[in-house]
Amino acid sequence: MSNSNGRTAIVTGAARGIGAAIAKRLAADGFAVAVLDLDEASGKPVADAIESAGGRALSVGVDVSDAAGVEAAVTRVAAELGGPTVLVNNAGITRDNLLFKMTDEDWDSVMNVHLRGTFLMSRAVQRHMTERKWGRIVNLSSTSALGNRGQANYSAAKAGIQGFTKTLAIELGKFGVTVNAIAPGFIETEMTAATAARIGVTFEEFKAMAAAQIPVARVGKPEDIAHTVSFLVSEGASFVSGQVIYVAGGPRA
Ligand SMILES: NC(=O)c1ccc[n+]([C@@H]2O[C@H](COP(=O)([O-])OP(=O)(O)OC[C@H]3O[C@@H](n4cnc5c(N)ncnc54)[C@H](O)[C@@H]3O)[C@@H](O)[C@H]2O)c1
Repeated sequence: MSNSNGRTAIVTGAARGIGAAIAKRLAADGFAVAVLDLDEASGKPVADAIESAGGRALSVGVDVSDAAGVEAAVTRVAAELGGPTVLVNNAGITRDNLLFKMTDEDWDSVMNVHLRGTFLMSRAVQRHMTERKWGRIVNLSSTSALGNRGQANYSAAKAGIQGFTKTLAIELGKFGVTVNAIAPGFIETEMTAATAARIGVTFEEFKAMAAAQIPVARVGKPEDIAHTVSFLVSEGASFVSGQVIYVAGGPRA
C-alpha cells in the first residue's frame, strides 16, 4: 500500500503483453487496478491473477476509440474501484505497410486506437484527478516515433502522443497531475511476435536480430516498461512531467 495510498489505476490494453505486466506491477505497488481491453473475458485472467495475489482488480471490456464506451467504462471503474487517479494509455495496434500500399483503413485504425483512444481516456479520467488535486498519466509512445520503415501510421501516432503528453503536462500540472510518456524499444510481446511472423522469420531469429542492435545486448521484457511506469506514478516522481523516457536498452532506437 505504501506506494499507492489505496488509489485506483486504469491500464488500457491490459489483457496481455506490456499492459498486463503494468497492471500486475501497479497492483503489487498497492493500487486497485482496472484492466481495460476490448472484451471483458480477455482481461479477466489478469484481474483474477491480481486478486489471487491479494490485490483488487476489475476487468472491463471497452474499445478505447469509442467515446460513449470510454465514458461508461470510466464511470464503472469509479463506482466499483474508486475514482481513478492513475491512467496508463497502453492499448495499441499495428497495421504496418509501406506508404504506397497503406490503406485508408490501416491509417485510420492506428490513429483511432493510439491517438483518439489516448485523448478520450485522458479526457474521461482527468476529472477524477483534478477533483482530488493528484494524478498520474503515462502514455505509451515508441522508438518508432523517431521514424521506422513501414510504420508511417504508427510512427505518426506515437510522435503525436509525445506532443499530446507535453501539452497535458502544461494544462494539468497545477492540479497536481503529471503526464509523461514512455517510448519502448523492442519488447518481447505478441505484437513483436506477429511482426516476425509477417516478415517470415521465427520469433527467436527476430529477437536475436534485434538484440544484436541493442547496446545492452538483449531485447526488452514487459516488466522493463512496468518498472518505469511504477516510478512515474510514484509519489516521489511529482516533479517529473512532460517527459518522454526512452526505455530501449540504449540511447537510440
Ligand atoms: N512490443 C513492443 O516492442 C512495443 C514497442 C514500443 C511501443 N509499444 C506499445 O506498447 C503498447 C503495448 O504493446 P504490446 O506489445 O503489449 O501489444 P499487444 O498487441 O501484445 O497488446 C495490446 C493490447 O491492446 C489491446 N487493444 C488493441 N486495441 C484496443 C482498443 N481499441 N481498445 C482496447 N484495447 C485494445 C489488445 O487487445 C491487446 O490486449 C502499445 O501501445 C504498443 O504500441 C510496444
